[in-house]
Amino acid sequence: MIKTVGVKVKGIGRAVPEVIATNEDFAKIVDTNDEWITQRTGIKTRHISNGEPTYYFGAKAAKEAIADAGLEASDIGLIIVTTVTPDYYTPSTACLIQRELGVSGCPAFDVNAACSGFVYAVDMARRYLACGDIKYALVVASEELSKFVDYEDRSTCILFGDAAAAVVLEKAEDTLFSSFLAADGSGANYLASRAMHTINPFRDQDYTYDMNMPEPHKHYLLQDGKEVYKFATNALPTACKEACDKAGITPDELDAIIPHQANVRIIETAAKKLHVSMDKMVLNIADYGNTSSASIPNAFYDGVKSGRIKRGDKVCFVGFGGGLTYGATIIEY
Ligand code: UT7
Repeated sequence: MIKTVGVKVKGIGRAVPEVIATNEDFAKIVDTNDEWITQRTGIKTRHISNGEPTYYFGAKAAKEAIADAGLEASDIGLIIVTTVTPDYYTPSTACLIQRELGVSGCPAFDVNAACSGFVYAVDMARRYLACGDIKYALVVASEELSKFVDYEDRSTCILFGDAAAAVVLEKAEDTLFSSFLAADGSGANYLASRAMHTINPFRDQDYTYDMNMPEPHKHYLLQDGKEVYKFATNALPTACKEACDKAGITPDELDAIIPHQANVRIIETAAKKLHVSMDKMVLNIADYGNTSSASIPNAFYDGVKSGRIKRGDKVCFVGFGGGLTYGATIIEY
């Protein structure tokens, strides 16, 4: 096992909407049923915002994480927010969360690496912490997929939910840390939502670029489920294995693997490829569905609070998603 400069998780937080949508609720709005959703995905319920914005849940999770760390918001030296569902093009969700925390001054910005966002952000925070510029970094993953889900498309709407989770990180010397991040933009069209734009009097033609992407004027999330599934069943084990190799350990030596919660079948396939039992996998997909970048820290939160993950455990966060992006980060909790 290779020891290096890594991160310590000093505090965690989580916030989810109160509204819960069950599989039976979805059967009332699209042609689906509990059996299909459970068998094909492992999802039973998801939380859905009743109009509260993305920053609202992110700020709530952040406040809990800061309090859990025994800190004040003014102690935070950097705010990184991961989201594919911001409330605005500008300001960033990070600036809105900073506002809600009642502080100003420290840098705050968003990262969009889709469902791999949290993995990317932990790696970025570690680099800031390692160089000594800051003492504490706040990483918040906040998502409201319900903003752009097409509730008439049964193949996607049953998958997604809303959630936010946050961690406060500080520098740790002589610890386990490794990170493997990757992307493959050639699969950009497999999971996409087009940005909105205004009507422009200087244009006499509509978009003619990227016509394999969702059509202009529609910002619903479109997914080629089969292609993403194929990608995910390779990306997940590959990222985990690469991060383990860099850390000088085998996947079996990890105490917990926290995968992006997209589909239980993807996670089962990955476990087989990694030659680890499903007991290693920390799951809460049944309760929350796919919440993009929030899914990993949300499952981590449940793992810690339930006692499944303990101090000193070797934990691997591993994600994959739109972009396409994928990656894994290994820490000692
Ligand atoms: O975070 C982003 C990462 N995203 C993912 O990881 C998603 C990856 N993909 C998947 O998880 C799976 O592809 C899905 C869960 C989206 C779909 O599962 P599948 O086993 O690949 O189903 P399928 O698309 O092959 O569809 C099988 C059948 C089709 O009907 P026919 O053509 O066989 O008659 C679909 O129309 O199931 C039908 N179907 C449904 N039936 C009932 C699709 N959605 C539903 C539904 N309820 N909700």
